[in-house]
Amino acid sequence: MNETDHSKKTYNIKKKFSIRTFGCQMNVYDSDRISEIMKGSGYEPEQDVEKTDILIINTCSVREKPRNRVISVIENVRSRNAGVKIVIAGCVAQLEGEELFADGADIIAGPDWYEELPSMLSRNELTGDRISWLDQGDPRFLANSSEKFQVSAFIPIQKGCDNYCAYCVVPAARGPERSRPFEEILQEVHHVVDKGTSEIFLLGQNVNSWKGDGGFAGLISKISTIEGVKRIRFTTSHPADISPELIKAFGNNNKLMPWLHLPLQSGSDRILDAMKRKYHIDHYFNIVNNIRSIRSDIALTTDIIVGFPGETEDDFRKTFDAVSKIEYEGMFSFKYSSRPNTAAALMPDHITEEIKGKRLTELQTMFEAKLPSLLQKYCGQAILVLVEGPSLRDPLVARGRTPQNHVINFITDSDPQSLVGRIISIKVEEVRTHTLFGCAMPAF
Ligand code: 5AD
Ligand code: SF4
Repeated sequence: MNETDHSKKTYNIKKKFSIRTFGCQMNVYDSDRISEIMKGSGYEPEQDVEKTDILIINTCSVREKPRNRVISVIENVRSRNAGVKIVIAGCVAQLEGEELFADGADIIAGPDWYEELPSMLSRNELTGDRISWLDQGDPRFLANSSEKFQVSAFIPIQKGCDNYCAYCVVPAARGPERSRPFEEILQEVHHVVDKGTSEIFLLGQNVNSWKGDGGFAGLISKISTIEGVKRIRFTTSHPADISPELIKAFGNNNKLMPWLHLPLQSGSDRILDAMKRKYHIDHYFNIVNNIRSIRSDIALTTDIIVGFPGETEDDFRKTFDAVSKIEYEGMFSFKYSSRPNTAAALMPDHITEEIKGKRLTELQTMFEAKLPSLLQKYCGQAILVLVEGPSLRDPLVARGRTPQNHVINFITDSDPQSLVGRIISIKVEEVRTHTLFGCAMPAF
């Protein structure tokens, strides 16, 4: 097609877009930015995939299952909306690149290139060419310029990862670790606080190794001096990089919430070595003990992988015992999933799906049985809850988060919507499986 042909095409700037997001909080943040970029270029958001012109799938490749859902989403949407343009964004886009054209993608956008999406779409519209934009190396962070009020705002402070854990595809998908400059982080904190946010949720693959003045503990300390910031949380922490300063911060910074997500992955030193995790179980227990002696009310949560190559029954038992002993208040547990271009994929002694499944069920059953009794300690306490809105099931019941990051549903005389963003005192009355249930204190 030549230049003259282009001018004959009418470019409809009121095209509609939908976004489907898989994976981690970073993808949730990125999808919000993509949405702003698209709206800023004249596209209209559309929830119904049958009516949309463009479907952006923000993908996750950390395990095989979410990766394979990309194909089923494309097939499903195409069968209901034949003319839809498919954009593959996120980790699968970066890892698999133009191979995804064969699966029906029109545009492939790696995680560092979302600002280019409108120009990729107009080029595709004008020329019909399928386009991919993947190179890494540009350390720009997309800033949150949304006017939307958020109770809790994710703020990325880092991209990528240099750890190369043997099972993990993230370093290949998201590139080397890059720290976001302090001024940019601060600017974004001010931006969201001005819009009414009271909780700052810092994000990174390994936040503890954020590079900047004062390190990660210094960053938290500076953010906590900003008026309007009432709560600070972060994820994810690597046990080998937790600094004494950060542990101290849990004791002396009352804006830093008593919750730490500290992925253990395995309780066996042999498997931790094979995973290249750079710590042993003794070190992990030391962190747990130190942090609990400084902040006794802290809630710990974790990630566990069962069935890593070579994992014996004895190794699994060590994981099982560690999880039971540490008394986590939340756990994400997974069967090991072999990922392309990772060290573990080439290791011998892969475990059968059957054994992985059996170990996962055993671990989860123990955890689920134990959790309600662990949460019982909150019953009878008055807890300060940041209100998020009505509960998911009953619009007359309100929902919020405790300092320990537990969801709590509670009864109140007020309209739940009118309490959104406020921190109020709730008496915990019951544990209902994983959620707490309570009642607003009369004088909140
Ligand atoms: N297989 C299973 N689980 C994995 N995770 C990361 N890579 C894999 C894999 N190949 C899990 C880890 C990590 C979490 C985000 O996902 O537990 O902490
Ligand atoms: Fe993956 Fe390990 Fe980096 Fe976490 S620390 S993103 S598990 S390589």
